[in-house]
Amino acid sequence: MEVLLSDMKTHGSATGAGAETLLDVAALRADTPGCEQVVHFNNAGCGLLAAPVLATMLDHLNLEARLGGYEAAAARAEQVRAFYTETAALINCAPGNIAFAGSATHAYATALSSIPFEAGDVILTTRNDFISNQIAFLSLRKRFGVRLVHAPDLPEGGVDVAAMAALMRAHRPRLVSATHIPTNSGLVQPIAEIGAHCRELGLLYLVDACQSVGQFPIDVAEIGCDLLTATCRKFLRGPRGSGFLYVSDRVLRDGYEPLFIDMHGSRWVSPDSYRPVESAARFEEWEFPYATVLGCAAAVRYARQVGVAAIARRTPALAARLRARLGDLAGVRLLDRGRTLGALVTFEVEGWQAEPFKAAMDAAGVNSALSFREFAQFDFADKDVEWCLRLSPHYYNTEDEVDRVADIVAGLRASP
Ligand SMILES: Cc1ncc(COP(=O)(O)O)c(C=O)c1O
Repeated sequence: MEVLLSDMKTHGSATGAGAETLLDVAALRADTPGCEQVVHFNNAGCGLLAAPVLATMLDHLNLEARLGGYEAAAARAEQVRAFYTETAALINCAPGNIAFAGSATHAYATALSSIPFEAGDVILTTRNDFISNQIAFLSLRKRFGVRLVHAPDLPEGGVDVAAMAALMRAHRPRLVSATHIPTNSGLVQPIAEIGAHCRELGLLYLVDACQSVGQFPIDVAEIGCDLLTATCRKFLRGPRGSGFLYVSDRVLRDGYEPLFIDMHGSRWVSPDSYRPVESAARFEEWEFPYATVLGCAAAVRYARQVGVAAIARRTPALAARLRARLGDLAGVRLLDRGRTLGALVTFEVEGWQAEPFKAAMDAAGVNSALSFREFAQFDFADKDVEWCLRLSPHYYNTEDEVDRVADIVAGLRASP
């Protein structure tokens, strides 16, 4: 990685604001074994592992095989702690505000379970919250009788923040929730603007940053959220089966704790009482996939070394180039709407069904993903669409690959 970083060129003062780092894409690709195999435009599904991340994980599995699982974890205690320091530095909080989770969904459910909902409580969200979050809200409605309120969208797409703020004042929701970038389009929601209203009104605010972490800078202080969930496997390029939960000091101080807290998250201080630990470890469980945690630490370190600001310039720009190319094609309908768009490019192709189209992309050596109406009941109904193909490049993809992928889509259009 040192070699790789010294290969990157920095223009202007390295420390000054506005210093522009140009990524050495060739070096980054050389560091990414998958680049030799496929055109990977499914980073919104799972990013390709960088070589140091893979090596870290393999090394730990080898250590576990040689020393024993508990002993290997003890031997790597310092590197495990680095998961918290790296992730905290990535999103601008303290290590004690970070909990490791097996997935973003698990982090989200654990966070929700800490809120003592009562019948009639309102959850205020958007029309573009992630499918599993929406299902969790419906489950809370079924069990506890909470009410769900969805803020309207602007005509150009994305939540109408002024309308959402009016709903906050009218309903005083028990929880406000927003997904930064939904799984089903490139829309980037104005989460900091929403957060400013939550802070003004003292409302609990939960953000799903699953698709944005590793793609855009995430600053929890600027967002003003109480809780934030993310995965490590997508734009952070960490291993599968990993994620994290940010828990603010305010939430920790106010005594929020998950419904099922265990011997890691609390102390059993007398036969009939327990005391939650002070930090966000309260939201973790005792058992950890240590090779995965170490892989996540390596992935977050890697993203920070590459430079999140530089990634945030290059990655959405590759997506914009792809959108521009696809937008020129008759029979292709681009579906991304909103003032700001990230690196998820979604579209439908006239005359094609979902699975055959994806299979044709697979056959052409391009990794992609499908989204269906079920993933986005509000958004896809608004757009009157049943399915779309999602292409999600990352900084290690090239302009050439973008053009090749656009050419492949252009070629397929004519032959459903
Ligand atoms: C916006 C968003 N939130 C949450 C998730 C769920 O993440 P995980 O699969 O790690 O539970 C995803 C996964 O695609 C997502 O796109």
